[in-house]
Amino acid sequence: MSRPRVYLETFGCQMNELDSELVAGQLHALGYRFVDEPDGAQVILYNTCSVREHAEQKVWSRLGELAIRKQDDPALVVGVLGCLAERDGVALVKRMPVVDVLCGPGELDKLPSLLDNAYRTRQSLLSDRVTATDADRRSAGQIALQGSSSRRSATLAAAQDSLEMLDLSRATSPLDTIDDDHPTAGAVRKRSAYVRITRGCNKFCTYCVVPFTRGAEVHRPPEHIIDECKKLADAGVIEITLLGQTVNHYRFEHGAAVTIGGVIQPQKGRSYAGGHRRDPFAGSNVTTFADLLSRIHEEVPSIERLRFVTSYPRDFGDDVLEVIRDHPRICRYLHVPAQSGSDRILTLMNRGYTVSEYLEFIDRARAFLHEPEKGRTLSLSGDIIVGFPTETDEDFAATIALVERARYKNCFIFKYSARPGTTAYDKYEDDVPDAVKRTRNNTALDVQSRISDELSREAIGQTFDVFVEGLSRMEEKKRERPAKNCGGGVSLTIGGNVIHSHAGEASGDDDDCGCSTAAIETPSGTASGETTQFSGRTDGDQIVFFDVPSGASTDELVGRIVQVTIERVQRLSLFGRLSGQR
Ligand code: 5AD
Ligand code: SF4
Repeated sequence: MSRPRVYLETFGCQMNELDSELVAGQLHALGYRFVDEPDGAQVILYNTCSVREHAEQKVWSRLGELAIRKQDDPALVVGVLGCLAERDGVALVKRMPVVDVLCGPGELDKLPSLLDNAYRTRQSLLSDRVTATDADRRSAGQIALQGSSSRRSATLAAAQDSLEMLDLSRATSPLDTIDDDHPTAGAVRKRSAYVRITRGCNKFCTYCVVPFTRGAEVHRPPEHIIDECKKLADAGVIEITLLGQTVNHYRFEHGAAVTIGGVIQPQKGRSYAGGHRRDPFAGSNVTTFADLLSRIHEEVPSIERLRFVTSYPRDFGDDVLEVIRDHPRICRYLHVPAQSGSDRILTLMNRGYTVSEYLEFIDRARAFLHEPEKGRTLSLSGDIIVGFPTETDEDFAATIALVERARYKNCFIFKYSARPGTTAYDKYEDDVPDAVKRTRNNTALDVQSRISDELSREAIGQTFDVFVEGLSRMEEKKRERPAKNCGGGVSLTIGGNVIHSHAGEASGDDDDCGCSTAAIETPSGTASGETTQFSGRTDGDQIVFFDVPSGASTDELVGRIVQVTIERVQRLSLFGRLSGQR
């Protein structure tokens, strides 16, 4: 049976983007072919997000369209992956019988066999001339969810977690070739990569579905992580972003892991109480987050940029800050969501820190890492939720005061979205009217925009190392080559497979993530017939646009680090001229 053409679209966070990349790599190795439009696909996969209602609604509407298409195309296989699949489970299939495959984020390693079964079933049903309705009913059974066992015991998790194989498979699969149709995206993919260090989350913030959909915190063995970084580096990657929901909680106890089939299985995380300045578990049989950062920096020297997201504002020891300060290739960029500036709301959110503890942390981080006299500065970014149940004008004013005080480079502002299954959904009425949420959202955005603008202006005249990501959007438009941006998302190309993604970063107002950010990038500038405009990022994650004379080779710039001197700014975007190249 020939392998089908697959269309894979990703919603949500960087963790989802990585999952999609790994899934695509696995399927690609098995011979599946990827297409960049759903029209010609025989398999359509949506890797979903259920963190906010907005992203979820997109998936529902896509599934509604597919239900109509499937009436004429009964062989079509539809798969829902990720957090929405995990949260709604079989109820999702009942609501949308068009769905053949359901696979939670903790079971993605099983996707190839689920998909194979679904595809074969549908093909054989068709050849048996069974009606589409029967076929729908009979193949809608390819389901892999963690379900109620998603928060398993440490021993079981260690013994059963074959998910680690998914991350490992990426490191061993041949690296991607640059796609002819999307050379820029392909090149970026080769030079910049995500590496997961921790799965799941143990924090149970009352508004958040993640601990339910992604399960308990599990840390990957440092050897696996470092091997993966080395293999990526050998394949040409120079920028690595380590991923974890609470990435600074990383801690691996050696000797506590179980080995199955020659593979060390990951172990569950062990959290510790806040208030300390150093990881109290540091010692010979523990790899702390600080140890991990320093080992990657030392053992994989060709990685020119090492960054990590997302940090939890508590439990961030001085040991980590020292490692960042003392290792030049670790980016001085921290994404540390505060969520609210009101202690009362933070308690209702179960965030586990007060405003003054949060501010103490960012002051401490600045004391360690903000050294403009040495040409090294700290960039902070944050997340804020407005309109959490019972939020008053006074609470919101406190949030604005925190945003003013934190002086984030950029901040993602979300309107509270009541999520079924969370504590807040069960316990608190969603009582802040949408109009009030919208007004607060806009107010917070305005404040952040002004701060972003002020911070950007400080960059004028300075020269930055810039990791070149590709042609600017304006340049892409100029060339009449659609940038494959799906409503503010980005497209990644992996082995010639275009993976559509809707991420919060670099997005327009109220995108698929339901977030708005003051970091709206609308490149404007001098791109003309004589020059080509590129975009890239500083190590503090600021977006930079620069022009080079037309005719310059894209390959010489994309995926490389160049020096750009900033001449003007527009909100978060910096515009400059190329002043050096390594
Ligand atoms: N409503 C609004 N925003 C949310 N986030 C998480 N859950 C919700 C929700 N129910 C935001 C938080 C988090 C970011 C990834 O998404 O700010 O940091
Ligand atoms: Fe969700 Fe809180 Fe965990 Fe972040 S720390 S993933 S907001 S539960």
